[in-house]
Amino acid sequence: MLKTENISLVFNYGTQDENTALKNISLTINTGDFVTVIGSNGAGKTSLYNIIAGTYKPTSGQIFLKEKDITRMPEYKRARYIGRIYQNPLSGTAGKMSVEDNMVICHRKGYKGLGISLNNTLRAYFRERLAELDMGLENRLQDNVELLSGGQRQALTLLMAVLSEPDILLLDEHTAALDPRNAEIVMNLTRRFAERYGLTVMMITHNMSQAIEYGNRLLMMDSGEIIFDINEEEKKKLSIDEIVKRFRTLKKKELVNDELLLNL
Ligand SMILES: Nc1ncnc2c1ncn2[C@@H]1O[C@H](COP(=O)(O)OP(=O)(O)OP(=O)(O)O)[C@@H](O)[C@H]1O
Ligand SMILES: [Mg+2]
Repeated sequence: MLKTENISLVFNYGTQDENTALKNISLTINTGDFVTVIGSNGAGKTSLYNIIAGTYKPTSGQIFLKEKDITRMPEYKRARYIGRIYQNPLSGTAGKMSVEDNMVICHRKGYKGLGISLNNTLRAYFRERLAELDMGLENRLQDNVELLSGGQRQALTLLMAVLSEPDILLLDEHTAALDPRNAEIVMNLTRRFAERYGLTVMMITHNMSQAIEYGNRLLMMDSGEIIFDINEEEKKKLSIDEIVKRFRTLKKKELVNDELLLNL
């Protein structure tokens, strides 16, 4: 379970450029939840992830993971418990390293720091796991990751995140940079892995259909706040039109262009 209590994040505090990215966010994510997160550009979605992952420390407030206060825990330590996948397929893996060497690193993370060296048993295990992606990567263990396509690379990043057995997985528009076919493949894998391994997931998306279709809860952010939080029952009945209507009613400032939110 992840819990934030009155989290605020203010950039350039006390200067002309002061900017409040998060305002008093109190949020509980239950184990096994798959939460989709939507909101226009600059709403604070990535900032919330930065606070959860420890990239930034909050200006005020606390954050708890499984009841433990991790507010001051540095990012590199949290990375053992909190997985994160970014939009850019290049950022989740080391391009100059082979597929298997990338996987060893994550596998070690799953064992929370115990040294594991690459041997044939582990190779066979990796091959088996890679086969689940259905992309032929089980035959490319020794290839450098930079040789893979964006979709293959993002699928590998997803698999590696799963292997490291995170308490929560943060997906930040992780299919937005892929072509539609690969985006769909990676989204299907996301759902399959989440179900099979009972992952706790937060997924930021600008795609309203995805936000409705995936997960058991939906959050909408605007101007650093969570302006609505919809549970599974309500979400099942929700339409894109309804989301847009609610957003128009609840948002704090006029957007220059509502289309920023609406990638249907
Ligand atoms: N390092 C930083 N320094 C100053 N301001 C920042 C920094 N990072 C984010 N911000 C500001 O915080 C606010 C929230 O940004 P954030 O990146 O969280 O938005 P977002 O919801 O992820 O938007 P997008 O959909 O465009 O990715 C914005 O006003 C942004 O300019
Ligand atoms: Mg963002």
